[in-house]
Amino acid sequence: MNIAGRREVRSFARRERPLGRAALAARERLWERLGVPEGQWGHLGEGPRDVFLDIGFGDGESLLTSAASDAGRDYVGVEVYRTGVIKVLRGIEERALGNVRLIEADAHDLLGKVGEGRIAAIQVFFPDPWPKTRHHKRRLVQERFLREVVRVLRPGGLFHMATDWTPYAQAVLDAAREVPALVLAGEERGQRPCTRFERRGVRLGHEVRDLRFHKAA
Ligand SMILES: C[S@@+](CC[C@H](N)C(=O)[O-])C[C@H]1O[C@@H](n2cnc3c(N)ncnc32)[C@H](O)[C@@H]1O
Repeated sequence: MNIAGRREVRSFARRERPLGRAALAARERLWERLGVPEGQWGHLGEGPRDVFLDIGFGDGESLLTSAASDAGRDYVGVEVYRTGVIKVLRGIEERALGNVRLIEADAHDLLGKVGEGRIAAIQVFFPDPWPKTRHHKRRLVQERFLREVVRVLRPGGLFHMATDWTPYAQAVLDAAREVPALVLAGEERGQRPCTRFERRGVRLGHEVRDLRFHKAA
């Protein structure tokens, strides 16, 4: 953070076109029902149902599919990409899903406000790999992020990351060694749906890695 309180190194690039009138109207119509206002972030996970956080859900391919097939859990998606947020608001409405809500924010700002031990699972699928060495500091999943994850996960909770960029997977494994409460549990993909980022990685011949960690009980 600088003195104005703004984060200088961001894990995302700001390159969005202005939203069209139809997109803005959809947001206006759906946000009140499906968005989680900042004032409620501190209450996430207080209720009896498990909360799964999907950080950087993009176009929501994975978020919508998972939530639709898992009605017993609540899914909260976090994204900075406004076009994706609106697309997913529409997707929730079209599929009449009652277990998904969205947050439009930098995940770091959200995690800082969530209470300790409240979240059942956090998933980060295909985060921007920032492959150039001078950009590594922009990667979302670094030691600082893992410490935030461990704080908000409940004991036994799951952190699941998938990437098609092997050096990123390796850097996360290295960072996780500095966070002893996060224990590598395996590399299975489980029920994770395939998204266009995975399909692109496979087309390019990249190996897809799934890293699953549990918070020590
Ligand atoms: C490559 S996309 C992957 C999208 C999706 N998870 C998938 O697998 O299809 C990465 C997404 O992470 C989002 N993102 C990056 N940094 C973020 C942050 N700090 N907070 C919230 N979202 C972030 C980007 O806007 C982008 O949509």
